[in-house]
Amino acid sequence: MSTAFLLLSAFAGLCYGQSTFTPLRPPSLPLAVKSPYMSTWQHAGSDGGNGGYLAGQWPTFWNGQVTGWTGFIRVDNVTYTWMGASDQNSLFVNQTNYEYTSTKSIFTMNAGGFVDMTVTFLSTVTPDDLMRSSLPFSYMNVDMTSADGSDHDVQLYTDISAEWVSGDHAANAQWSYGTIQEEASPRHFGPAASATWPAAHAPKSYGTKTDYTLTTSYAHPFPPAHGYGQGHKPTHFHKAHPQPTHKPHGSARQHNSGSSQASGIAYHEVYRQQQLNFSETNQQADWGYWYWATENTTSLSHQSGADVDVRGQFLDNGSLDDTADTDYRPINDAFPVFGFAVDVGSLGSDTSSTLFQLSLHQQDCIQFEGANGIETLPCLWTSYFDSNTAALEYFYNDYDTASSMASTFDSQISSDSAASGGDDYISLTSLAARQAFGALEYTNTPEVPYIFLKEISSDGNTQTVDVIFPFHPIAIYLNPTLLKYMLDPLFINQEAGYWPYQFSIHDLGSSFPNATGHNDGNDEMQPLEECGDMIIMTLAYAQRTNDDAYLAQHYDILRQWNEYLIEEALIPANQISTDDFAGALANQTNLALKGIIGIEAMAQIANRTGHTADGINYTSIAHNYISLWQTYGINYDANPPHAELNYGNASSYVLLYNLFGDAELGLNLVPQSVYDMQSNFYPTVFNAYGVPLDTRHKYTKNDWELFCAAIASTSTKDQFISTIANWLGVTPTNFAFTDLYDTITGDYPGITFRNRPVVGGLYAPLALNSAPSSGIVLPS
Ligand SMILES: *[C@@H]1O[C@H](CO)[C@@H](O)[C@H](O)[C@H]1NC(C)=O
Ligand SMILES: *[C@@H]1O[C@H](CO)[C@@H](O)[C@H](O)[C@H]1NC(C)=O
Ligand SMILES: *[C@@H]1O[C@H](CO)[C@@H](O)[C@H](O)[C@H]1NC(C)=O
Ligand SMILES: *[C@@H]1O[C@H](CO)[C@@H](O)[C@H](O)[C@H]1NC(C)=O
Ligand SMILES: *[C@@H]1O[C@H](CO)[C@@H](O)[C@H](O)[C@H]1NC(C)=O
Ligand SMILES: *[C@@H]1O[C@H](CO)[C@@H](O)[C@H](O)[C@H]1NC(C)=O
Ligand SMILES: *[C@@H]1O[C@H](CO)[C@@H](O)[C@H](O)[C@H]1NC(C)=O
Ligand SMILES: *[C@@H]1O[C@H](CO)[C@@H](O)[C@H](O)[C@H]1NC(C)=O
Ligand SMILES: *[C@@H]1O[C@H](CO)[C@@H](O)[C@H](O)[C@H]1NC(C)=O
Ligand SMILES: *[C@@H]1O[C@H](CO)[C@@H](O)[C@H](O)[C@H]1NC(C)=O
Repeated sequence: MSTAFLLLSAFAGLCYGQSTFTPLRPPSLPLAVKSPYMSTWQHAGSDGGNGGYLAGQWPTFWNGQVTGWTGFIRVDNVTYTWMGASDQNSLFVNQTNYEYTSTKSIFTMNAGGFVDMTVTFLSTVTPDDLMRSSLPFSYMNVDMTSADGSDHDVQLYTDISAEWVSGDHAANAQWSYGTIQEEASPRHFGPAASATWPAAHAPKSYGTKTDYTLTTSYAHPFPPAHGYGQGHKPTHFHKAHPQPTHKPHGSARQHNSGSSQASGIAYHEVYRQQQLNFSETNQQADWGYWYWATENTTSLSHQSGADVDVRGQFLDNGSLDDTADTDYRPINDAFPVFGFAVDVGSLGSDTSSTLFQLSLHQQDCIQFEGANGIETLPCLWTSYFDSNTAALEYFYNDYDTASSMASTFDSQISSDSAASGGDDYISLTSLAARQAFGALEYTNTPEVPYIFLKEISSDGNTQTVDVIFPFHPIAIYLNPTLLKYMLDPLFINQEAGYWPYQFSIHDLGSSFPNATGHNDGNDEMQPLEECGDMIIMTLAYAQRTNDDAYLAQHYDILRQWNEYLIEEALIPANQISTDDFAGALANQTNLALKGIIGIEAMAQIANRTGHTADGINYTSIAHNYISLWQTYGINYDANPPHAELNYGNASSYVLLYNLFGDAELGLNLVPQSVYDMQSNFYPTVFNAYGVPLDTRHKYTKNDWELFCAAIASTSTKDQFISTIANWLGVTPTNFAFTDLYDTITGDYPGITFRNRPVVGGLYAPLALNSAPSSGIVLPS
């Protein structure tokens, strides 16, 4: 692996040390990234980040607002900051390394030359384990050991602020402290049923309207919410009113050098006082209960109160006073924080470890317009656990198992990625895993699970078909059934007849977590894109699981969408594609290709389900169309020849990423000569950081570049991968992994997409591992 070396010069006066970054320094470092609402990061890129250091800058929610999270370590009466930017302490640890894997962010630090620290943030990705996937929970483990061979007197401190519990920082927060000691274990369920909803009883009527109005521009309305929060706290603050709930521990605290006596879990519970189910402010959830937990030992002290009071208490005393502030108040009024201090005692060469855990507990996750109208879908974790504390205790005690499962998962991603695209490819896939899965919400029941995707940052829509499409390679690679759990709600809503059009819907709701449909037909129309996506993804799932029953179950509506493709795909009307920011255009070569591949996919679906006449007819139409398409959309006179952005536009070119569907489904519809042509062409149009999406702009999208790389020659594939890995390490962008960037500057192209699940598309090369070798399936 390559190791980038970065000197920090911008923060003269503060010293964070010199950190190396392995395999590279990402634009933003994932800290707690497990769900749309458990998504806290550390900005690193030069557009506003601090270069990749945990200390000296507040962590933020993906959208930019501060989620206060502090770490201090006191060594022989001297306190060093290892996380966050409290202005009450100006001495910092030296960070020496940051490493990311698919599930972990690992910071290595040194406090004053006396103590070595390893802080590990673990957000698990468990594609085969619905129970663990359903918990929007995340770990932070702190290991400490003497750095100089001498024993040191050590105390550890960490807190979170109430900024986690709502994006409306004027809202009142409430909190409490508790301890539990139970043995919690999840309820067990058999495998999910193969038919995922009572299709027999559901209404089956389809929309039939075919005309639609072209909307010419789409807002991506996310003003930067960068950096407000504790960094800008009011100068005056009112004193908290500490009211002891427990007497301070009577005896001297015991040392916990790795062998403290466990007595359950201690937790701070924090929440928005007025719960607003299914509401968001600044993208954060306005409902749910947050828990900040650790082991309940005799060396633990705790305190809630104003930031300056709680942190000040630790800075003065090295411990907290076990009191609770009961002056429930706005999040930004004398910022309430929730602290833990651990008296490690005498620290020598034995490693002392303390595990902390953050968890979000919501009962209901999604409002969904299903077969029988709008219903409330419970969060899936509520099926497994009876209470918030049972879930949190189970998760805490699961750390060893979760950590070892995570290491196995990390190794799988690393070795498969290395085999497919080398070390640079590992840098991409391992950063993408948490982000892609972090857009998912697991709902309903273990027997009938539905997974909902948030179109994070671009529009905030629920279950956007053309965002699931770029996400879907990671599901195909890791567990294709997850894709079915995402497609199900789209089928259910449209088969119930709520959507009035013949072609597929774009999304199930304008604002996550509401999947309440678009019964008025007022949606972001991308008719060709979504019909092609639905047919291609449904077949991709069914091929890999041999679930032809699923194809039969949904045959009628798939056929309806295919009829639309037959009418519209060859000569596409003026419309937008998934790259809506690039504007509408008629005769888009790449969009037509998606539609034609969709028709051939439908031919295979027909054959797999015994619709023999349709199978013959659709096969013939697709082959006819693909011949014509080659005469319309390719500039054979150019040197080298290449596909055009739109038919007959000789000076234009395009990333022909929709060709990936032909390879993924093993259709062999498109001649190998087209693959070879594009593979030869791309190297002639690389800019410093990649190949532009098309000739209209200098920007590109790395998900689509990897779709192209996956089906290119080895040398072209390597060029895409090494160029994008290089970009990822040097881009000035500072939010979570953007997919859209300028190929010359490496920066945002005026649109700051961030943290989008489409980075699942970086797994396109790995999704091809399971591609069928033959495209012909004869009716049985
Ligand atoms: C820390 O401070 C306390 C109180 O001032 C003192 O008793 C103790 O010796 C100091 N410890 C070290 C290692 O300096
Ligand atoms: C950090 O490292 C620098 C350079 O080695 C050193 O001068 C400084 O004292 C260290 N700071 C801390 C807090 O350890
Ligand atoms: C938590 O720890 C405290 C102090 O050791 C102890 O008094 C209390 O009983 C513990 N709580 C539980 C539930 O075990
Ligand atoms: C919010 O959800 C909770 C949990 O399902 C429920 O008990 C409560 O009544 C809901 N609140 C409103 C206002 O619907
Ligand atoms: C979802 O719908 C509810 C009404 O049922 C509304 O209160 C809430 O604000 C909506 N959420 C979003 C994110 O728009
Ligand atoms: C904490 O320190 C303050 C002075 O800094 C002192 O007045 C107070 O007694 C100490 N509290 C405890 C519990 O040690
Ligand atoms: C689209 O392409 C077809 C076939 O080349 C052509 O006949 C038609 O005029 C084109 N439409 C537009 C709007 O350019
Ligand atoms: C093939 O499908 C098209 C589109 O539905 C239809 O118009 C045509 O009649 C079909 N041909 C045959 C032979 O079924
Ligand atoms: C041809 O492509 C260019 C971008 O390269 C675009 O600006 C132009 O509008 C296109 N021309 C036509 C006639 O569509
Ligand atoms: C479907 O089956 C027919 C024979 O009935 C065959 O000619 C055709 O190639 C098959 N199409 C696909 C896509 O498998």
